[in-house]
Amino acid sequence: MKGIVFNLLESFVCEGWGEDVYEEILDRCPLHTQEPFVGPGTYPDADLVSIASATAKHLGLSLPDALRAFGAYCLPHLVGSVPDLVGDMDTPEKLLLAVDGVIHVEVRKLFPKAHPPQFAVRINPDRTLHLEYRSERKLCAFLEGLFDGLGDHFDRDIRAEKHACMHDGSDHCAYTLQVSARAVESKAPTASAGAGLG
Ligand code: HEM
Repeated sequence: MKGIVFNLLESFVCEGWGEDVYEEILDRCPLHTQEPFVGPGTYPDADLVSIASATAKHLGLSLPDALRAFGAYCLPHLVGSVPDLVGDMDTPEKLLLAVDGVIHVEVRKLFPKAHPPQFAVRINPDRTLHLEYRSERKLCAFLEGLFDGLGDHFDRDIRAEKHACMHDGSDHCAYTLQVSARAVESKAPTASAGAGLG
């Protein structure tokens, strides 16, 4: 996995819980990598899983829940890292439809040795999206966090219904994604609202 993802995991922990906590977590991980993680570098996936597992333990979360929170954290940073590429993608649907054929294609050019996952995304007749994810890393919990982050980034609700999972023996994870406008929180009328009407 590319160093950029390790760097994001470090900032996720440092911003949320402090640098000391990150150092404690690293101390507990039996890592293959001894040198600092740098963005363009490529490091063993096992090291990322090791740091994510120790982070989950520290936070009292399951590994999938920690990966999901990390995915939500990553989305705006990933989008912000390629502004020229995603500038005119102004909806979650446009970004998701472009992730395999445009965004990760560019990622492979920008980061030699990157091995991003495969996506097949199509629009269903009812305007929901059908998305299939394939990766030997089986990081569907991280992907589900990216969906959460996409919703926040575009101020939309994204409901992801999962139909198949690689962790249950399928060769891919499949989702139906429903994107909708976020409900505006309506304020309960106050006692003064009717003042002056008699
Ligand atoms: C918008 C800009 C994006 C950038 C710059 C970006 C970049 C990257 C990079 C550098 C990696 C690591 C690949 C490696 O180390 O081999 C990665 C992994 C990944 N990306 Fe993206 N990505 C973006 C958007 C997205 C979106 C929108 C999705 C799906 C909603 C997505 C899903 C994933 C997943 C699930 C992984 C984890 C690796 C795996 O499952 O094998 N990415 N991405």
